[in-house]
This record gives sequence, structure tokens and C-alpha cells, in this order.
Amino acid sequence: MSGSDAFANRGNRDASVVNPRPSGTIDSTRRSGPVGEGRAGDPFLIGEAMTGGYGTGPDILHDCTIAVEQGEIAVIVGPNGAGKSTAMKAVFGMLDLRQGSVRLNGRDITALNPQDRVKAGMGFVPQVNNIFPSLTVQENLEMGAFIRDDDISETMEQVFDLFPAVADKRKQAAGELSGGQRQQVAVSRALMTRPSLLMLDEPTAGVSPIVMDELFDRIIAIARGGLPVLMVEQNARQAMNIADKAYVLVQGRNAHTGTGKELMANEEVRRTFLGG
Ligand SMILES: Nc1ncnc2c1ncn2[C@@H]1O[C@H](COP(=O)(O)OP(=O)(O)OP(=O)(O)O)[C@@H](O)[C@H]1O
Ligand SMILES: [Mg+2]
Repeated sequence: MSGSDAFANRGNRDASVVNPRPSGTIDSTRRSGPVGEGRAGDPFLIGEAMTGGYGTGPDILHDCTIAVEQGEIAVIVGPNGAGKSTAMKAVFGMLDLRQGSVRLNGRDITALNPQDRVKAGMGFVPQVNNIFPSLTVQENLEMGAFIRDDDISETMEQVFDLFPAVADKRKQAAGELSGGQRQQVAVSRALMTRPSLLMLDEPTAGVSPIVMDELFDRIIAIARGGLPVLMVEQNARQAMNIADKAYVLVQGRNAHTGTGKELMANEEVRRTFLGG
């Protein structure tokens, strides 16, 4: 996937889904290790006590824990460079953790590579380079379904129902779409595998407030439809409004954790992250 202007100017620009070598990338030669057992009382997804960084570099995450319950929305917020995207990549298997584990739906998947995590039910929309701009919208969705060998037409119709704009533009090159429509295509692409967990890194980056509200509505609909959502969001206030669980990360550590309501009522969180 190559760059797209709408995302060019913010956040982590490491293009890590495509870079062939720097660590934190999807290395297709990396074999998965064995799947272990989950633990009693686990949430649907938990990245627990994750410590690790990129390649042989310093640790970016320090004992960081992120979890999502079935049917809920969990959000990660925090300042630029706090490690939000790194936490998502760690959960998705793009970093080798030095400590901690990732468990999904009763299984320990810490040793799985990203491709096998997709097979295990993860759908991931990275912060950047999350569509193929030169392919049509429909081709993007077909690419999204790469792990499936059954009939994908029903899923495509469901995605079109969820995002009518995506249906309208299906024959158009994805790169020609507006920022908001591209984000819809990116989310749609991730849904094509019929994931059991949807992970979104800043899905509303670079879109207007109206489009942002629409995207939030769709994400809430997805979660209420039974698909748990873990998302990073730069609009902290809106994010906490819709969050069942919210995580504030600072310098790779859990700074605050609670329900969206709890964190919005927390004096320090308000002062530091919500502008008073
Ligand atoms: N591929 C990489 N290789 C080495 N260091 C990286 C890489 N990607 C990110 N980092 C470093 O990890 C730290 C956390 O970055 P990360 O992208 O996870 O932050 P973030 O919270 O997602 O920030 P933003 O809000 O800007 O998206 C930063 O110091 C960053 O420079
Ligand atoms: Mg980021």
C-alpha cells in the first residue's frame, strides 16, 4: 500500500505495514509459534503487561495493558508519541514483546504472526497506508478478504449496507475518495474477513467534524452489533463519550484506566487531556 495525502501529515509515519525491513513490520517470513491457553476470567481480548519496542531499540511500551470485553468499545487516548500505535501493533503481532502476553477469545496468541492473528479473528486498520489507493474500492474489499476462499459477496453487501458511500464508489479508485470515505473503505476492508474483533488506529484522522460523527455512529453500530472494537482516537472527549473502557497512555505506560465516564470525571484527566 502506498501513501495517501489525507494521512500524510500526522502521527506515526513509519509506513510500517509496507516497509520490508524495519522492525514493527509485517514480516511474512516469520513463522507463528504455538497457541496457548487463555486464563479464566479473561476479557475477550487482552494485551497484558506488554513491554517491548522496535527491533533491538529501546522499550516503547512499559508494562502496558489494554483489554476489550465482548460487544464493547475500548479506546486508547494519549499525547502524540505516547505509544498508542505501538500498543496496537503489539496486540496485532507486529512487535516482539519482551514481556507480557496477548490473549484472544480464550487463547494465548502471543506467538502468532499478524497473518495468523487475522485468521484468529483480528481485523486491523492501521493509522497510515490503510488502503490501496490505485485499486478500486471493490478491489480493496476483495484484497481485504484475502484469507477467505468462500463466497464473499454477502459480506460485501453487509459492508455496503453499513457504508452506503462505499457502495456508491465501488468502481472508483480508492485514492480518489475523500478522507472520510477512504477511512470507510479501510474499515470495510478490515470487516471483509468477518473478524471477531475490530482494531482501529485513529479512524477519524483528518476528517471533518460531521464526517467524524458519522464514523463514530457507524463504529458504535458495529460494536452494538456484537463486534468488540478497540480504537485509538485523537479526539479524546468524543472517544471517551462512546467508550465502555478508556485507556490513557503516557510514555508507553498506562496513566489512567476506567470507563469513559470515570475518566471524563477525573480531575487530572480533564486538566491534562480534555482541556479542563
Ligand atoms: N517503526 C518504528 N521504529 C522505531 N521507533 C518507532 C517506530 N514507530 C514509532 N516509533 C517510536 O515509538 C514511540 C511511540 O510512537 P507511536 O507511533 O506508537 O505513538 P502514538 O501514540 O501512536 O503517536 P501519534 O499520536 O502521533 O500517532 C515514538 O517515540 C516513536 O518515535
Ligand atoms: Mg499513532
